[in-house]
Amino acid sequence: AARAGDISHILAGFPNSQDQLLPALHAVQDRIGHVPPESVERIAGHFNLSRAEVHGVVTFYHYFRGAPPARHVVQVCRAEACQSVGGDALLAHVGRALGCGLHEHSADGAFALEPVYCLGQCASGPALTIDGAVHARVTPARFDAVLDKALD
Ligand code: FES
Repeated sequence: AARAGDISHILAGFPNSQDQLLPALHAVQDRIGHVPPESVERIAGHFNLSRAEVHGVVTFYHYFRGAPPARHVVQVCRAEACQSVGGDALLAHVGRALGCGLHEHSADGAFALEPVYCLGQCASGPALTIDGAVHARVTPARFDAVLDKALD
């Protein structure tokens, strides 16, 4: 992937016309993986727009990301059956272990923590997924071992 510093090179492929802003943002995200906040000023200059206008477009379209995606996604089941067998305690533990709350990324960008509503494991809760793989009967005590194994 290109680095944020390569952005001038990407912009050079687009005429300075404002209807090229969206195609240019797509090109930046395709090459870099996200639209770095530090690139907004250069993009704005290229299209003769204000930084606020470019920022507004980037945040309006959910497709664009202002930061790289988390490398690992942990989803904890928040539906009733899992809640009734310790889902809250599990979520609290997972949050401490990853260093972030629900809907957040850990500070190093390695983990995203998300809620999910039923994983079809209601009889064997609490359940969660790590990078899409479902794990059942995950007690707080078991989580660390499950995570270590998943990241191997
Ligand atoms: Fe958690 Fe169904 S309620 S898996």
